[in-house]
Amino acid sequence: MSATIIDGKEVAAQVRAEVAEKVSALKAKGITPCLAVILVGENPASVSYVTGKQKALAEVGMADRSVHLPETTTEEELLHLIGELNADSSVHGILVQLPLPKHIDEEKVLLAIDPSKDVDGFHPVNVGNLVIGKKAYLPCTPHGIIVLLEKAGIQTSGKHAVVIGRSNIVGKPVSLLLARKETNCTVTLCHTGTKNIEEITRQADILVAAAGRPHTVTKDMVKPGAVVIDVGVNRIPDSTKKSGFRLIGDCDFEDLKDVAGFITPVPGGVGPMTIAMLMFNTLEAAENARK
Ligand code: GUN
Repeated sequence: MSATIIDGKEVAAQVRAEVAEKVSALKAKGITPCLAVILVGENPASVSYVTGKQKALAEVGMADRSVHLPETTTEEELLHLIGELNADSSVHGILVQLPLPKHIDEEKVLLAIDPSKDVDGFHPVNVGNLVIGKKAYLPCTPHGIIVLLEKAGIQTSGKHAVVIGRSNIVGKPVSLLLARKETNCTVTLCHTGTKNIEEITRQADILVAAAGRPHTVTKDMVKPGAVVIDVGVNRIPDSTKKSGFRLIGDCDFEDLKDVAGFITPVPGGVGPMTIAMLMFNTLEAAENARK
């Protein structure tokens, strides 16, 4: 048996097309949704992510107010910029690309973003609203995973979802989204302190790997027919590539292809969905600002 590959690129293109249509409608009413992506420094992965976000903004017809600051930017300067963008009514969404340089307090920066412009869904107000089931900007990667499952036609209700990883960006929020009434999974959250992890992952109908470590999920850890969502984005050296590296996920894709029922590739699985959901949230922010 060979797994069905879930094409995140294709689903993300669908989501962007839906967003683009609604952007056109808003523009006809005199509002152009606008996102400010703030990048501090030259972290190569971050530069690449931000470029992807800017490309998507252009594609869906949104305004781009991105700012690229030098590595030496002080916390005070960054907080000042966020204050300006908070006060600017033509800016609907603000995203600070993480990680930030070590001399800047990430928590302080995320707290400074107006929750109504926090299209990343990282502000404690949005996180809290997600936890208690109130309206919130949903974090893009977890939300993208839910949409990917939906669009791939995977039934989730009553299924056992096992998540590997407890990060604030993926593991914790995706566990909450999977457990919501709409998705209705029974969720187990595994992490570096989990004993006999393979015994738990083998029970998964849906396995979400967000450990940030290559080869975290191997063939023996997956139940035949399970849905495997690989959130890992790991750069490994590859001299055959012009860039000198290639991307691999947290799962041994080649190994799992013969066991899983469905699997997301890396690249081309969850990654494109993250950006598509950012466009979705920015549209929502612009619509909310109009109300
Ligand atoms: N760094 C890695 N993933 C993300 C993300 O989803 N948002 C932001 N702001 N930074 C990131």
